[in-house]
Amino acid sequence: MPAAVLIGAQWGDEGKGKATDLLGSRLDYVVKFNGGNNAGHTVVVGEEKYALHLLPSGILTPGVTPVIGNGVVVDVEVLFEELEGLASRGVDVSRLRISANAHLITQYHRTLDKVTERFLGKRQIGTTGRGIGPAYADKINRVGLRMQDLFDENILRQKVEGALDQKNHLLVKVYNRRAIGVDEVVEELLGYVDRLRPMVTDTSLLLHEALERGETVLFEGGQATMLDVDHGTYPFVTSSNATSGGAVTGSGIAPNRIDRVIAVVKAYTTRVGAGPFPTELFDEWGEFLSERGFEFGTTTGRRRRTGWYDAPIARYASRINGVTDFVLTKLDVLTGLERIPVAVGYEVDGQRVDEVPVSQSDFHHAVPVYEEFPGWQEDISGAREFSELPANAQAYVRELEAMSGSRISAIGVGPGREQIVQLHDLLD
Ligand code: GDP
Ligand code: IMO
Ligand code: MG
Repeated sequence: MPAAVLIGAQWGDEGKGKATDLLGSRLDYVVKFNGGNNAGHTVVVGEEKYALHLLPSGILTPGVTPVIGNGVVVDVEVLFEELEGLASRGVDVSRLRISANAHLITQYHRTLDKVTERFLGKRQIGTTGRGIGPAYADKINRVGLRMQDLFDENILRQKVEGALDQKNHLLVKVYNRRAIGVDEVVEELLGYVDRLRPMVTDTSLLLHEALERGETVLFEGGQATMLDVDHGTYPFVTSSNATSGGAVTGSGIAPNRIDRVIAVVKAYTTRVGAGPFPTELFDEWGEFLSERGFEFGTTTGRRRRTGWYDAPIARYASRINGVTDFVLTKLDVLTGLERIPVAVGYEVDGQRVDEVPVSQSDFHHAVPVYEEFPGWQEDISGAREFSELPANAQAYVRELEAMSGSRISAIGVGPGREQIVQLHDLLD
């Protein structure tokens, strides 16, 4: 089974890292196609806990070739920190390949991310501050730096000069910060060139050839559907396409190569940063989900906002991404609740709607219409078969499946690698 895309259905942190890790031994390549080190994937292997930001989760599986595609923005300092961190724990990182067309995040992008957020004041997005937005802005403005530019010092210098020309005016005159010197940026980047040279290649061709040989490639999305720059809750989104279409443009493989689209969805909802979130809870149940689900960001440590499952969002994710299978995670977190509310639609200005409204103002005002399902009290963290789940947990899963537009093929019952109930083969 050659190519599958794995994406988040909600606002991120659904457990994509764990889901990728689950498939690990069956994969030949795992490709990150969007975002950068704004992602945070926690993967628990036995007693070991790994937090990955820039690298695809597949790097933890021996034999898998991890690939950073052209759609990613790479902070090379973070790249080497992460690689060294993993190598020191015995992970083989030698297979990593990076697209020559991937863009770079430099210190001026990080600085601009922080100052623009501060400037936005009340309207701030709550970015991760990693320079993601400014790096993608440069890409679209055609003043970005690409991996391949590192191998030609003259070109690199010219491009850094071009980029800093305008930015220094902005930094000094608007944001009251110091100007950034061309030399300091160029010198810093050149310091990584020798180590990068063996990793940087034509990853589109590499993946094409792998697929021609019948090898299995997983495209792992960072962020999620509702954070997608086109299909998410703009402007409270990230600056890349986190939906399945991004796997194509962000890696240079063709759409008709994709056989399966796996969406990871939590049994409730969380969000980090600002923006609309209809089912958000501000009461003790929000606390319950936050504490029981340990909902703190892997990247910034921020407490995640929490709320009930939102079926219109799952249906929307199913439609936008062409989802073939859902992986429902964190079902164990709901254990102990008497009743579990699920949003089945919204009321917008007194009107019932069943779909995510296209108007952002309507989505801001959307009031969830809930249906309640009976909960269960039994510990489910040891369940490995669907039949081992309490009847009410089974019914809850079936209800979500009926509302969400695609089948649920696996269920997470704990953070551990083995804590999963499989219903269908995700790759077949
Ligand atoms: P990602 O960004 O989508 O890869 O997700 P994160 O790693 O940021 O957040 C998901 C968190 O939930 C991690 O701490 C995982 O270890 C944890 N996790 C994943 N699946 C499950 C599950 O089924 N149950 C529980 N309790 N935790 C899970
Ligand atoms: P993973 O891959 C959750 C959010 C930020 C902010 C918005 C824009 O772990 O699911 P950015 O720094 O990307 O410009 O911030 O997007 N955000 C995430 N939220 N999980 C993520 O990644 C996120 N990556 C970005 O909190 O609201
Ligand atoms: Mg995360």
